[in-house]
Amino acid sequence: MLQQLKEATDFIRRRIKHKPEVGVILGTGLGNRFVKAIKRQTIINYNVIPHFPISTVATHKGQLVVGEVNGKQVITMRGRLHYYEGYSMHQIALPIRVMKMLGVEVLLISNAAGNLNPNWKKGELMLLDDHVNLMPDNPLRGENYEVLGPRFPDMSEPYSQPLQKKLSAIARKKKINIHRGIYAAVQGPSLETRAEYRYLRTIGADAVGMSTVPEVLAARHCGMACCAVSVLTNDCNPDKPAAVKLESIVKVAGKAEKNLVTLFTGLIASL
Ligand code: HPA
Repeated sequence: MLQQLKEATDFIRRRIKHKPEVGVILGTGLGNRFVKAIKRQTIINYNVIPHFPISTVATHKGQLVVGEVNGKQVITMRGRLHYYEGYSMHQIALPIRVMKMLGVEVLLISNAAGNLNPNWKKGELMLLDDHVNLMPDNPLRGENYEVLGPRFPDMSEPYSQPLQKKLSAIARKKKINIHRGIYAAVQGPSLETRAEYRYLRTIGADAVGMSTVPEVLAARHCGMACCAVSVLTNDCNPDKPAAVKLESIVKVAGKAEKNLVTLFTGLIASL
């Protein structure tokens, strides 16, 4: 595995001019506007990078976009890899580890998620303060490579408190309404039943989605600071069930994209 990481890292390093400092992962329906904000872009398709998994979801592009945002060097995954697509957790962790080997210390993540909190509404944003991993696997399972990180990485602060404070301050300044809460990660791809919505509320989750946690586990393992924002694309009300459609998720995410980009570009400037 270390050899694969090295080959992928060397391949990317040869194609970029500067060492990236910030990694960004863009979720469902949340790609285009942020990518437009990246200056002096180098685009590398996943399918040419050795050992890189290839994104299979139609709404995800499968490119690394490397360049500059507010004076900082960023490397962006346009098109994330989901466990439900059939990738192993190790495959999902690979790009995160490659980012770390390239020099990235801060990882910003966006995702589309279902809203479980009865006081919140779809279309709003949630800053992740914590998560519950309900996926059946963990990217850190198996042999541990001490050069990457410890066998039993601490998870008392999966989402950096200083980054949360910075992002909240930017939201206040820009008058963007953002909640703070707990994200439950499920494997998908089927959406949740009403009984599952009730269960997820009972265990304290505010939002549910099919991503983010594997990347955060891999990132925390290798010591990167994480900050993640969910766009609440649909309401998950067990007493008022409504069919969830991908087109609607993508549409709601698209409407929230502007605020998300304001928050991320503002946070990058403040680093
Ligand atoms: N459930 C799981 N994942 C999701 C949802 C949802 O309701 N909405 C967007 N991603």
